[in-house]
Amino acid sequence: MSEGEKAPIGVIGVGWVGLVTAACFAELGHEVFARDVVPEKVEALSRGEVTIHEPGLAELVVSNADRLHFTTDMEEVLDSAEILFVCVDTPPTHSGDADLSRVRAVVSELTDAGSHLLVMKSTVPAGTGETIMGELPGVGYVSCPEFLKEGTAVQDFMHPDRVVIGVPEGREEGGRRVAELYEPLGGDLVMTDVTSAEMVKLASNAYLATRISFINEIANVCEEVGADVTEVARGMGLDERIGPHFLRPGIGFGGSCFPKDVSALKLLAGNSGYHFQLLNAVIEVNELQKRRVVNKLIKHLGPLSGRRIALLGLAFKPDTDDMREASSLVLAARLASEGAEVVAFDPVAMEGAEEMLPGVEMADSALAALEGADAAVLVTEWPEFRDIEWQAAGAAMNRKLLIDGRNFLDPAGMAEAGFTWEGVGRAEVGPS
Ligand code: UDX
Repeated sequence: MSEGEKAPIGVIGVGWVGLVTAACFAELGHEVFARDVVPEKVEALSRGEVTIHEPGLAELVVSNADRLHFTTDMEEVLDSAEILFVCVDTPPTHSGDADLSRVRAVVSELTDAGSHLLVMKSTVPAGTGETIMGELPGVGYVSCPEFLKEGTAVQDFMHPDRVVIGVPEGREEGGRRVAELYEPLGGDLVMTDVTSAEMVKLASNAYLATRISFINEIANVCEEVGADVTEVARGMGLDERIGPHFLRPGIGFGGSCFPKDVSALKLLAGNSGYHFQLLNAVIEVNELQKRRVVNKLIKHLGPLSGRRIALLGLAFKPDTDDMREASSLVLAARLASEGAEVVAFDPVAMEGAEEMLPGVEMADSALAALEGADAAVLVTEWPEFRDIEWQAAGAAMNRKLLIDGRNFLDPAGMAEAGFTWEGVGRAEVGPS
């Protein structure tokens, strides 16, 4: 490779993290060889078809098509690139531990990988890197955890807050090569040992999840004492030591990372002989928070049997079609067990959601979902729900009741439209 030429990159596992990594490195001028075991996925991506809903990603895949090579063939990747980013998923097992079978499968394919450098992006329990290094003595190893958020992943990749690189003692060269790849993007560099880098990822996600459960509990207390949690969070967030982020109460956190990583860290601690008490509460609060909405509906409507409840939004957060651990799954199941009829609308997640929510009627639009409903629950804060003509929507509903699971709509505006509005940790507002 001549000076100034960009190193080719291998990406193993073209899920959400892998595809963002591949597309962004291609955008930065690298040839990228991305391998996945699912032939249909590889074929679709080779045609420029991106099925994940992630703003800006499809555009990058298409505009960098000449530098992006998708394949099912590991040999092709090993022959073309020395640096291999491992981006396979590590979903929770039934025991709540991270399922490392896909990571292990990749490792078993790399035993003859010679001078390659394996860069672990997949979230793995602390200590995994040490084990893998023992199994692959000839291969370089770097831990480089991923901090992308769904919905802003391309932006997050291109402008990282920090890049964490874990390297084994005495083999820092590999870490420097990875640091060089990220250098054009800025962000603070944290160069540390492999196990500490693995812990940074788990601890960051567990801490953010803890903040959410904390503010959810504060919101629940606000409801009891008549305080407004948005004011409380604003006042807290202005303290520099606290900061304003991740203090939005709601109906619980979901997604592919927080629930899995909190549970994985709790079990990692437990398996190592330490009882991580705080995380038990974080998980429990999150579960209860999803159920509180049902109690609010019962408070207003009485028994829910035969009541028609409209869910606005299903995805675990806006700007994604991801339904993994979405609060809507628990909420819909709870409503069904109370005998309610559930109808839902989500701008992008309905196709994937349909299979997971067999008893739920999927509507073509928010207005169609609201028609004839006894109440609506705002589950996901999709911006377009602010544009709903609430006066007209209310007229089509059986009862003008909105439970705002994300404190997203303007209570005064809803009252003006004739609604009873109840959010999370704020005073209920009746029709004005
Ligand atoms: C998260 C981490 O933020 C990211 O760094 C990591 O790489 C993957 O996990 P993501 O799962 O995409 O990213 O979503 P995030 O935006 O962090 O939100 C997670 C959940 O927390 C969502 O359900 C969201 O609605 C909820 N949330 C977030 C709150 O309830 N309140 C908040 O204040 C913030």
